Amino acid sequence: MKSDQIRKKYLDFFEKKQHKIIPSSSLVPQDDPSVLFNTAGMQQLTPYLLGQKHPKGKKLANIQKCLRTNDIEEVGDKSHLTFFEMVGHWSLGDYFKEEEIPLMYEFLTSKDGLNLSKDRLYFTIFEGDKNAPEDKEALEIWKKIVPENRVYSLNAEENFWSAGDSGPCGRDSEYFYDTTEKGLGNLSKEEFLIHCEKLDIIEICNSVFMEYEKKDGKIIKNLKEKNVDFGGGFERWCILKQNVESVYETDLFNYFIKILEENSDKNYLIQNKAYRIICDHMRASVFLISDGVLPSNKDQGYILRKLLRRSLLYLKNINFNLEKMDVLLFSVVDKYKEFYPNLEEKKDLIYSEISKEFQKFEKTLHSGMKKFEEIVDVTKKNNNVCKIDWGVFNTLDCCNEVCGKDAYDLFTVYGLPLEIIKDEAHRRGVGVDEKNFNKLIEIHKESSRISSDVKFKGGLGGDSPKIRAFHTTTHLLLAGLRKILGEHVHQAGSNITEERSRFDFTHDEKVQREVLDEVENYVNSAIENNIKIYSEVMEKEEAKKQGVEGSFWEKYPDKVSVYVMKDDLGNIYSRELCGGPHVENSAEISQFGKFKIKKEESSSAGVRRVKCIFV
Ligand code: SER
Repeated sequence: MKSDQIRKKYLDFFEKKQHKIIPSSSLVPQDDPSVLFNTAGMQQLTPYLLGQKHPKGKKLANIQKCLRTNDIEEVGDKSHLTFFEMVGHWSLGDYFKEEEIPLMYEFLTSKDGLNLSKDRLYFTIFEGDKNAPEDKEALEIWKKIVPENRVYSLNAEENFWSAGDSGPCGRDSEYFYDTTEKGLGNLSKEEFLIHCEKLDIIEICNSVFMEYEKKDGKIIKNLKEKNVDFGGGFERWCILKQNVESVYETDLFNYFIKILEENSDKNYLIQNKAYRIICDHMRASVFLISDGVLPSNKDQGYILRKLLRRSLLYLKNINFNLEKMDVLLFSVVDKYKEFYPNLEEKKDLIYSEISKEFQKFEKTLHSGMKKFEEIVDVTKKNNNVCKIDWGVFNTLDCCNEVCGKDAYDLFTVYGLPLEIIKDEAHRRGVGVDEKNFNKLIEIHKESSRISSDVKFKGGLGGDSPKIRAFHTTTHLLLAGLRKILGEHVHQAGSNITEERSRFDFTHDEKVQREVLDEVENYVNSAIENNIKIYSEVMEKEEAKKQGVEGSFWEKYPDKVSVYVMKDDLGNIYSRELCGGPHVENSAEISQFGKFKIKKEESSSAGVRRVKCIFV
């Protein structure tokens, strides 16, 4: 059964059962700034599940576009996806479990529905805990329809559902399908769980019986009306009905893989992980752009940028002919446009935004790969011994491997993800020291967190591209002031809004306009000289010794993360401890204009204040 038929079957079935079909909402929730994306079908219905009247009535059904990013690094295996479609239907204070359970059983097993084999189905109910009792009603209903030994009671992790810590929630019943060749037949609970673990048996959907409301993780009351919130993984249904191994072999992707294979020199069977990542990330990107998201350094735009950059890396990995990008992208539009018509409307925008982002990333990538080659050469020449002794890091760990520090630099400076570094290293016959790479990432995170606390108590008015640009110039400003006025100058405060940056520093007399001009020139020349901005992990003592700028050193652990601003010739413009949001290269600053120090005044005893703008 083709994917379009499955969609149609589902919606027709529930329409016949008096459900109104509602459209999928945008991937970006319209009224909820607290979440980046729609992650479940019920999200757009939360107010109605809490009691508000829905204009379309009490019985609704749809297929909803969803995006989950928490498992983005896992994509590439058989089952993880970022973008997916969730099949859903709801009873808002209408029917409850007595009707829902037989209704779903009918859909799963009848010819009007998925027509799945009854022998391969298993079901679960909630076993009860201190928050909510065992779902005995659901068990009784199930017992009337299927043999009792096909129903298992499981704990809250499996069979109690809520969207988060607060909101409507309830016990649920889940539906499972046996995908093995011969069929497993009746199983004990232990056997059932083992086969689930092995993915012989997979969950295909769940019906949540919403009757409680949660606040901050605790059930606070019963809902006025009882609801049903059903959700099913559309991609999984396609796998079952098409009898294939993974979603990538279904008709949701097979045409796409064919285009990739026709225009690259490796096929799916050989480069299966790269292929899967491209499939997932490109499809998600197409849908994100159709819903108004554009690549940027912030929020949804940042996720889109990440998806696209990872896609490009893997497209290069399989040597895809990028001239065929239009064919590739438009194939997704064609596949989905009947059900999601805005794809066709946004077709040109999708192509132009993706091409632009690829061109931008190509430049970084070019220097990144050059650096990578150098590192591999040195690694091989030095008999693969790590060139830096990190004290706590055992240099022996680095043998036969690109050392963690080099991998970390490739990641932070050039944006090469670890798995690409690993792939590329393996192709050249060396490994990668992941352990130390991960250690450095952890140190960076911790150090950034401390610097953020130290520097920005109320001082950053958001995290827009302009605020990032202002914040980055603040580093250059401080470096310029120290260079020209002397080493006694340190940061004493900072406050940044969309309009201007305000910066306080230690110095006890008025700064003349000529000096300010010189500082301004220092900042602007760094920007013009195409500086790169990236972080480096160092021993704290070594950082101090090398003159890295920072205050409150005592708050930092032994290893610190230093932001470096450096041009292509290797000139360093600033090195400072920091954790704020930075741009990655000067072009992101120059788009706002030239940096200008507008005003200089006294702030308090021994502290001067400047206000700066872009003109
Ligand atoms: N809300 C439940 C889920 O996301 C059922 O729709 O799985």
